[in-house]
Formats: sequence, structure tokens, C-alpha cells
Amino acid sequence: MVICKKWTLAKPFIGKVTPDNFKLVKEDIPEKLNDGELLCEAVYLTVDPYMRIGAETGNAVGDTLFGEQIAKVIVSKNAKYPVGSIVRMHAGWRTHTLVKDAEKEISRSAEMGDLPLSLMLGAMGMPGMTAYFGFLELCQPKAGETVVVSGAAGAVGSLVGQIAKIKGCKVIGFAGTEEKCKWIKEELGFDFAYNYKKTDVDTALKEAAPDKSVDCYFDNVGGMFTVKVLTHMKTFGRVSICGSISNYNDTSVPTGPLPFFSILKSQLRVEGFIVSRWYSRWEEGETAMLRWIKEGKIKYKEHVTEGFEKMPDAFIGLFEGRNTGKAIIKM
Ligand SMILES: NC(=O)c1ccc[n+]([C@@H]2O[C@H](COP(=O)([O-])OP(=O)(O)OC[C@H]3O[C@@H](n4cnc5c(N)ncnc54)[C@H](OP(=O)(O)O)[C@@H]3O)[C@@H](O)[C@H]2O)c1
Repeated sequence: MVICKKWTLAKPFIGKVTPDNFKLVKEDIPEKLNDGELLCEAVYLTVDPYMRIGAETGNAVGDTLFGEQIAKVIVSKNAKYPVGSIVRMHAGWRTHTLVKDAEKEISRSAEMGDLPLSLMLGAMGMPGMTAYFGFLELCQPKAGETVVVSGAAGAVGSLVGQIAKIKGCKVIGFAGTEEKCKWIKEELGFDFAYNYKKTDVDTALKEAAPDKSVDCYFDNVGGMFTVKVLTHMKTFGRVSICGSISNYNDTSVPTGPLPFFSILKSQLRVEGFIVSRWYSRWEEGETAMLRWIKEGKIKYKEHVTEGFEKMPDAFIGLFEGRNTGKAIIKM
């Protein structure tokens, strides 16, 4: 028997996430497998903001929290995945997984070259594809245009800003600390970086994008911040609604001011997306990201938490802005 540890939902997420939302449970997994089966041990896991809203509909109390992981095959009765193979799968917050149907349960791995495996959960995984497709497809940026990114020092935002620079845009990023702003400006090449906790968005955009000159806005945070950004957009501006983290812990429906008049006046195209819509094109996004990383045009940072026991705390940290770049759990 292998003893698997897993994090389950102890009580539904309502409002701010706290440690008592989680319960660590042990489960015995037999090591004697049937033909075709695999036993895998997690190497890297990920915490992502979507788990906060996804759990409201996708996790009942007692369920293992869902999420992707990179794991190593430790027992195998499947010739395609010998012992030692590295796999990516949506196994949830668990240390060990019995894979019964490898074809269904294991996702395609990215061609990583000599990059760290954990990047398959970041720039070469779901957040990377979110930045690549969510920005390029919906914002359709052109050289010389002005792009605003919120959540700009996070997993997705830090990549969006760099892709915008590759496309020849002027990039304005908003993040929650001076250190984060310094990183995106000095190391990632953003043209302007503002700490939204210290500088009001109107003041910032009057300086960095005067006279309503924002062409594209990639929105990770939503709420009043986004309502204000929309008032600085050019006619026919494009807005990609990726996330709304400032609202995920809300217990009541946010009230106005509403953004619709700005959308009407400036004839904006505002579109939300879920990244799985481009799943059939994942390989195209991975190829581009791999090339840009190797060329040094895209840099990445990981906020690594060591230890499975600390996973809930790392998740809570996303809502407190503790991470710069991608939040990763290392076993
Ligand atoms: N549509 C999709 O398919 C899709 C896919 C992936 C992610 N997303 C969304 O994209 C956004 C970013 O995800 P990520 O994985 O890259 O996370 P992340 O940005 O790496 O981490 C979350 C960050 O959000 C910021 N934040 C937390 N509370 C905030 C608040 N009240 N107001 C403003 N900022 C706040 C914090 O940074 P600061 O220090 O800067 O506050 C924190 O570090 C999330 O909204 C997520 O749900 C959507």
C-alpha cells in the first residue's frame, strides 16, 4: 500500500478563504496494479485563482480539491508510461494517484526541451496559453498600440505584458507592490508600472496613456479597477476579460458604477473567455512560448512553496498578493 495525502474541501468557500476550508485526509492506494494502470507520485502541483470560483460549483464538501499536477510514474503496468515517466494530469490536490485509464486521465505533455518541468504548470501550461490566446486572439494588438495589463506581476499578467512588448506595443502594468512593479519594469521591459495600492488608476493612466489612448486592456482583476480603465480607452478599443480576482471573495453582487456607458461611448469590443476554448490549438501556443523563452524574449518567475502540507496557505496567498509570477507547490 502507498499512503496518499489529499486536501479536501472541509467547508464551502464563502467570502475570504481560510485554513479551516481545508482538511488533510489520508487514503491507501494498492501498489498491485491491473494491466494498463499506473501509480503516480506528484512532483509539482499548482494553485490558481480559478480554483476559488470553480470549487463553488465543482467541489462538494469532502471532495478532493481539483487542479493539475506534474507527477512521476512509480509503478507501471502500462508500456507507454514506464516507471520514471513524467506525466501532466488533472489529478487534484493529492500526493499519489492511481491512474486507471491513462489515455483519458493523462494530458499531453508540452515539448519542454531543457526547461524546468514546473513550467508545464506555468508559462508552458494553462497560464501561458491563457496569456497567449486570451491576449492575441481577443485584443489583436498591433505595433505602436498601448496595452494595459492588470495583475501584471502574476502568472498570466507577466506573460501578457511581455507578449505585448514582443508585438511592439507600449505596455502599462498594474501590480500590488513596489517590488513587483520594479520587476515588471526593469526586468520584463514594461514601459510603465504602477502600484495600484498607492497610485489611483485614473492618475496613472492620465500620465501613461493621456487623452484616452489605451487601445487594449487585458483584465485579470475586474471590479472598480476595470470600470476606471474602460474610461481611458480609445474608440474601438479591445478588452479581454480574463479574470476578476478582486470579486472572487465577494459575498454580495457588486453594485455600480457600471461600465456600459464607457463601452457604448468608446464603441469598445469587450469579450470574456475561458482558455479551454483554444485547447485544440495548445501546441501552437506552446511552440511560440518555448521559442520566446529560449530567445530570452519571455522571462518567468516562480513563487515556489515547498511541501504539500502548505498548499492551502499557498492558495490563500494568491488573494493576498504573496506570489510574484507563477505559484507552484514543490513536493
Ligand atoms: N479566463 C481564463 O481561462 C483564465 C485562466 C487563468 C487565469 N485566469 C484568471 O486570470 C487572473 C490571474 O490569474 P493568475 O493565475 O495569473 O494569478 P496570479 O496573478 O499569479 O495571482 C493572483 C494575483 O492577483 C492579485 N490580486 C489578488 N487580489 C487582488 C485584488 N483584490 N485586486 C487586484 N489584484 C489582486 C495579486 O497580485 P497583486 O500583488 O498585484 O495584487 C495576486 O498575486 C485571475 O483572475 C484568474 O482567475 C483566467
